[in-house]
Amino acid sequence: MCSGKTSQTYNFCFIDACTAAPTSMLANLFGFFHQSFIMRTRMRKHKVTFVVILVIIFCVVFVRVYTESRDESPKAIGQSIQKEYTKGRGEPHDQGRDTRVRISPIADPDLSEDLSKVEHGGIGMDAHTSPKIQTPLLRHIASDIISMKPDIFETVPRQFLPDYKSPCWFNKQNELYCLPYFYIIGVDKCGTTDLWDKITQHPDVLASVPKEPHWWGKRRHGCEQPPIHQKEARQISKMIGEKNDSSIEWYLNWFKTFGVKSIESSPSQNADGDVTFPKVFCDASISTCFNIGKPWEEGNYTNADLIHAVQPQAKIVMIIRNPTQRFFSGFMYNSMYRDKSSAALDLEVKEKIHCLTSCLQKHSERYCVFTKTCEPLNTIYLTLVKDWMRVYGRDGVYVLRLEDWRKNCAEELKKLIIFLELPALPKDEILRITRRKTLNVNARKAQGPALWNTTRDLLQDFFRPLNKRFASFMNDTRFLYNEG
Ligand SMILES: *[C@@H]1O[C@H](CO)[C@@H](O)[C@H](O)[C@H]1NC(C)=O
Ligand SMILES: *[C@@H]1O[C@H](CO)[C@@H](O)[C@H](O)[C@H]1NC(C)=O
Ligand SMILES: *[C@@H]1O[C@H](CO)[C@@H](O)[C@H](O)[C@H]1NC(C)=O
Ligand SMILES: *[C@@H]1O[C@H](CO)[C@@H](O)[C@H](O)[C@H]1NC(C)=O
Repeated sequence: MCSGKTSQTYNFCFIDACTAAPTSMLANLFGFFHQSFIMRTRMRKHKVTFVVILVIIFCVVFVRVYTESRDESPKAIGQSIQKEYTKGRGEPHDQGRDTRVRISPIADPDLSEDLSKVEHGGIGMDAHTSPKIQTPLLRHIASDIISMKPDIFETVPRQFLPDYKSPCWFNKQNELYCLPYFYIIGVDKCGTTDLWDKITQHPDVLASVPKEPHWWGKRRHGCEQPPIHQKEARQISKMIGEKNDSSIEWYLNWFKTFGVKSIESSPSQNADGDVTFPKVFCDASISTCFNIGKPWEEGNYTNADLIHAVQPQAKIVMIIRNPTQRFFSGFMYNSMYRDKSSAALDLEVKEKIHCLTSCLQKHSERYCVFTKTCEPLNTIYLTLVKDWMRVYGRDGVYVLRLEDWRKNCAEELKKLIIFLELPALPKDEILRITRRKTLNVNARKAQGPALWNTTRDLLQDFFRPLNKRFASFMNDTRFLYNEG
């Protein structure tokens, strides 16, 4: 019932501002040639003079077309940032990367349509960039993305300091600021807290930065403040004074307060004898992949586009689990359901399936996922993951399964460390980390009702086609969740 909706998933439209200008110039040129033809018949005597003038005019027009297309590059902002930036220590280096999505072919024909739209510069692609107008130091960022949150682009430079592993820079006052090196974007009820707890045990990952600032997904939009880390959040709000929590100052001060000092004070020497700053921190807010605007509209850009515009090198990590288990965990975790009997759960499952099925009949899949009306059934992993792979590519987004994380934590941790390009850890360090107590396992779950076989079957039947699509997209049968 859901697959028929996929074609609506990316129904966004783009007008490429760069091609628009040269096209009108061409129209002018054509008009010019047409007129000059009439003129030529009258001016046979001055043939030579005419040809010379024609060549000159052609050159002038050509130069204009060329420079106009150059004006589309973010010269003004870019150069001022660069000037400001180079006042700081160190030389800028190119943090830009090929923004084209590298998505390998997939098996499911259902999805190839979705992906072909993605590959042809779907929503939020940096499609305006052409290699000709891109200087090595300036990344082009679409003006629509800048207008999502202009203060970010006035504050954060487009290149970061090369000797810092984290994306760091010095401001005008020569103070160091840094953004997260990696993001754990979700999914809630899938073990993000335990993942965060264990990865921050890596000696280069700072555990001092609280897990969830909830800035991109919540504070940035002035959304309701999550109850987590309230004391720390108030401290930052006080610090930035008149500005409210939606400003980039809030976010930057969060890391300035809890992490940047540790980065600054832990230089290290690499094999060549150069001083580097290897410490990093992460933002593990579960709202980052889920809250993409308030009120939610079918916007052209999401948190993924915005974060990618600011940090094209950021590493994105996502942990998921069997959606049937996740639903069950959500039911037990949510204090809204006081009646936690098998019958209440069965009723809840039926209601949510009805809710999502009717939503999908009226709206696009993205709408049903992001408006969250049928929570927790609306968490369609594929819809969430695709936003991020569209901008970061398949290699830039790492998807873990909670089942694997629990079963073989040491192996999964090693793989995650490789993905994050952090130094490998000796065996005993890995063991020490994986032996830590598993955090945030829902204690109430143990006292939960027996999941009726019929209830479980309802959920599994509902999720089966979704799992199939996701497994096919990921080219990985583990995501079929056939183990039940
Ligand atoms: C899918 O994964 C298999 C190995 O699991 C690999 O051999 C194959 O090339 C992959 N296909 C695509 C399209 O990436
Ligand atoms: C927060 O500040 C921004 C401008 O920086 C403003 O647009 C927004 O309305 C403010 N929000 C609140 C809740 O005051
Ligand atoms: C999305 O882009 C289109 C085309 O540029 C524009 O008309 C539309 O207003 C944009 N939508 C939003 C929500 O910004
Ligand atoms: C429920 O399913 C399990 C196997 O998954 C089976 O052993 C059990 O007998 C079933 N219970 C009922 C009441 O059908």
